[in-house]
Amino acid sequence: EKQGFKHFMLKEIYEQPGVVRACLEAYLHPDWHPDKDTSPINLAIPASLYDDLEHVQILACGTSWHAALVGKYLLEQLAGIPTMVQYASEFRYAPTPLTVNTLTIGVTQSGETADTLAALAMEKKRREGKPSQFQVRLLGISNRPESSLGHLVPQIIETHAGMEIGVAATKTFVSQLMAFYCLALDLAYRRQTISATRLEEILVGLRQLPAQIELILESQERYIEQLTHDFAETKDFIFLGRGINFPIALEGALKLKEISYIHAEGYPAGEMKHGPIALLDAKVPVVAIAMPGNVYEKVLSNAQEAKARDSRLIGVTPMNDPEAAETFDDLLPVPAVEELLSPILTVIPLQLLAYHIAARRGLDVDQPRNLAKSVTVE
Ligand code: F6R
Repeated sequence: EKQGFKHFMLKEIYEQPGVVRACLEAYLHPDWHPDKDTSPINLAIPASLYDDLEHVQILACGTSWHAALVGKYLLEQLAGIPTMVQYASEFRYAPTPLTVNTLTIGVTQSGETADTLAALAMEKKRREGKPSQFQVRLLGISNRPESSLGHLVPQIIETHAGMEIGVAATKTFVSQLMAFYCLALDLAYRRQTISATRLEEILVGLRQLPAQIELILESQERYIEQLTHDFAETKDFIFLGRGINFPIALEGALKLKEISYIHAEGYPAGEMKHGPIALLDAKVPVVAIAMPGNVYEKVLSNAQEAKARDSRLIGVTPMNDPEAAETFDDLLPVPAVEELLSPILTVIPLQLLAYHIAARRGLDVDQPRNLAKSVTVE
């Protein structure tokens, strides 16, 4: 069943090009052309969810919460909709005061996470009987439309990742990101917050992702496996990113914690100087995500600050970038795509890094201690 892979997690990492292809096939109209008077996106979302939309709030836990943070960036930057992202477990006990014309999105790959389901049910209940602008509008994003989530919400974007067995979410995360790209583009198109040229540019970029993930897997895996030899004794890791790659820094840290039991923290790179930089020394490697875009130079300079504290600097950077080569001790290069599309690529080396560190330590990668695939208790 593992098809020659040592663990399900590694198999699932390798399934990601296919998952992105499946999402593209499901979400994009194949013969769309800018002159056509319809959205290029085919999510079959009823107008009642989109009409007069003023706010989006997203409820999720764990890795799905990280996908939601990328979603917030996309919904705000592409579609211009103010978006709140909440941990479902927190929202249940301190919900945001009711906002008008609000779409509430529950993100859960399993569709069974107790806190996420309860937070969505609570949101439905507290909006009952309220004036029309407060009426609940619910949307789910899930890999399992037949799950409990499916009974709770009238509309689901299915994520087409196929069954995920490894406890650490990998391919389902990437598929959730694809759902958010398409949701944000659909909204941007309908709200006319995006030009036809820009829309085309992003669609072209999305279609290139599967081959680019393949390239990363082919070119990086051996190197990352080798690199992990140097971290046999490492006890702490810091992951840095900014903008749309800040949630990827969080995700890189979470993957490492979950399966290797190494302490890891993800930070927005600009926050280092407000405290966490005190942790740095030669024993604490820093992984920084630095992709071309409006925070590129900023991340490089934040990385330099870490280097000055003797940290080993590992960069997730664009391929063939001399500036990156000069800044970092080790490079995990990915194809040089624009920042907006980069999370789907930058997360791949971080998944491989976590996997190989854990596998090298001889740990049970697919069934890490204390964790379950679906958290059905509060
Ligand atoms: C991370 C992981 C967990 C889940 C979280 C939410 O690798 O597996 O953090 O992401 O328990 O699970 P779902 O998405 O099923 O609601």
